[in-house]
Amino acid sequence: MMGKTIKNQDDLLMMLDSQFRSVKEFWDPFYSDRQRPVPFFHNKPDENLNHYLSSGMINPGRALELGCGPGRNAIFLKLNGFEVDAVDLSEVAIDWAKERANELLLDINFQCQSVFELSPDHEYDLIYDSGCMHHLLPHRRIQYMEMIHNGLKSGGHFGLTCFAPGFGDIGGPQFDMNDWEVYEEKSMKGGLAFTEEKIRYLLSDHFECIELRMMETMDQESDLFGVPFLWTSLWRKK
Ligand SMILES: C[S@@+](CC[C@H](N)C(=O)[O-])C[C@H]1O[C@@H](n2cnc3c(N)ncnc32)[C@H](O)[C@@H]1O
Repeated sequence: MMGKTIKNQDDLLMMLDSQFRSVKEFWDPFYSDRQRPVPFFHNKPDENLNHYLSSGMINPGRALELGCGPGRNAIFLKLNGFEVDAVDLSEVAIDWAKERANELLLDINFQCQSVFELSPDHEYDLIYDSGCMHHLLPHRRIQYMEMIHNGLKSGGHFGLTCFAPGFGDIGGPQFDMNDWEVYEEKSMKGGLAFTEEKIRYLLSDHFECIELRMMETMDQESDLFGVPFLWTSLWRKK
């Protein structure tokens, strides 16, 4: 790149990124106090991920988790027979994930990396995103979806968990901003909410929908994570 000259796609993406807050500067402090009452700080897997496995919708193989945070789903996948690569941009989250894995003597490939540095090539049986895509800027989504599609083996599965609109009072976004509004407002307001129609629109060209439903709410005593403001979905690469 020469100065601020836009010559190629990457220059354009970087210019658009620069209009928003730094992702790393937000997430590192977010994870620095482990005692904060953040539901996904508990080491429990998504209830839907447990359901996919226990019902035979997915089977152990090679998995990639995108935006894995402190590793709760990656750890669950490893405990259930997967070989797991997991990435997150936050070093603080990855250090925490590695500590958890070490305590359990689990060999998981946790890497502090942006999802946009990945270029997997038909390697994975499962790619899982729990709450990462809804924090990605819309102009990055094309590259993101292409990376996931390319990273999956033929017939591989993509699991996506993301915000639904209308839950502003209990921790989710209130409204589904459209993508243009993100640039008008210069903010994603804490994460984008997706309607069912929008999720299907974004994924249906390249993936077959296996299941799309709201996450089941789990109580505090449960071994599983479940909050009422998330969509859960499982897709198969076409
Ligand atoms: C809501 S948290 C979810 C964490 C984890 N999946 C869980 O559910 O416990 C979203 C995560 O996405 C990560 N993230 C956001 N943008 C990213 C990027 N470009 N590359 C890698 N990770 C990213 C953040 O650092 C954060 O840990």
